[in-house]
Amino acid sequence: MSSSDLIVDTGTARYPVIVESGARQELPHLLKEYGLGGTLWLVSDSSVFAHYGAEIQALLSQAGYTVQTYVVPSGEASKSQEQLWQLYTWMISSGVERRDTVLALGGGVVGDLAGFAAASVLRGIALVQLPTTLLAMVDASVGGKTGINHPLGKNLIGAFHQPRLVLADTAMLQSLPGRELRSGWAEVIKHGVIRDAELFAMLEAHAADFQQHAPFLQAAGLLTTVVQRAVAVKVAVVSADEREQGLRIILNYGHTLGHALEATLGYAELLHGEAVAIGMHAAARIAVDMGIFAAADAERQRRLLEAYGLPTSFPTDVDREQVLALTLRDKKVQNRQIHWVLPVSIGTVSVRDDVPEALVRSVLLH
Ligand SMILES: NC(=O)c1ccc[n+]([C@@H]2O[C@H](COP(=O)([O-])OP(=O)(O)OC[C@H]3O[C@@H](n4cnc5c(N)ncnc54)[C@H](O)[C@@H]3O)[C@@H](O)[C@H]2O)c1
Repeated sequence: MSSSDLIVDTGTARYPVIVESGARQELPHLLKEYGLGGTLWLVSDSSVFAHYGAEIQALLSQAGYTVQTYVVPSGEASKSQEQLWQLYTWMISSGVERRDTVLALGGGVVGDLAGFAAASVLRGIALVQLPTTLLAMVDASVGGKTGINHPLGKNLIGAFHQPRLVLADTAMLQSLPGRELRSGWAEVIKHGVIRDAELFAMLEAHAADFQQHAPFLQAAGLLTTVVQRAVAVKVAVVSADEREQGLRIILNYGHTLGHALEATLGYAELLHGEAVAIGMHAAARIAVDMGIFAAADAERQRRLLEAYGLPTSFPTDVDREQVLALTLRDKKVQNRQIHWVLPVSIGTVSVRDDVPEALVRSVLLH
């Protein structure tokens, strides 16, 4: 590990998260360095594989690795029981062994699906996350949550299975569609609000640099710095609380309402980050109404979200009563109390279970 690497250390698992532009070239020697070998089971989705699959396969084969490749259709629908079962069948019929390694090359969908296959096949084999979306780099690939969806709800079947290595090549973000990139910015901004005021200020200062893909190329070094900082928040939080028994809940900022919005709209209209952005703005308004967050800071957050192309108000066609009903039965509800993650200042949040329902109702319905 080099001194600049971010290290997740949960007490039971310890692994580096390497974020660099061009990092994929390092994959073969990093696998060696971390003792990861056997057959490499490379899982990707159709869009990501079209961009990077052949290159990664060639890199690994030239370094002497045996690589087996499986490509799932791109999109959330691949986080299914059927797709998982096909992965198992492919691995078992091709002779998977306990010493082998799964490489998850893609966004959060591939990371969750391939991660759960790695967690469960032969009772668990090694996993390497190679995130290719901004959301997966700063959030999904770090922390060990893996899983698939159930027809009754998202992410209901899964396991904690920490990767042995996370390698994020920020140069791969160049090919990411603009809307997916913007969705990832919501999680980056979230990390600034919950734990890193300096990251928030950097994002404010450089909003124009990150607007589109053309300047994005010039801002590549800056982008890597910002992604590293955002990842550092996730690394610190999951190192302190692997199983979401305490601190990890702060990562849920904006998600109580965001999940309810996604569920109401059927996961079609809004991307995850867009729903989270709307949820963050609503949480900030609740915090202002409770007198724990300055209105000027809520406004600062709104301006930043909008500067990164994210929505802050509800789509006009959404059934707000349904969003309210779903918010009030979010899965993070414990003992019938919703644990709201609310901002206190830029860089600090608190978890509150005393938010009056009438206040939530007034913010959501008006
Ligand atoms: N495990 C966790 O802790 C965690 C955390 C947050 C979200 N998630 C999960 O992550 C999923 C969402 O992840 P996502 O937003 O990365 O979506 P995604 O994996 O569906 O990727 C978004 C789209 O971008 C394409 N794509 C990905 N990388 C690309 C690249 N570099 N170039 C071109 N196209 C590319 C994909 O093919 C897909 O069409 C959800 O299922 C969510 O539940 C998991």
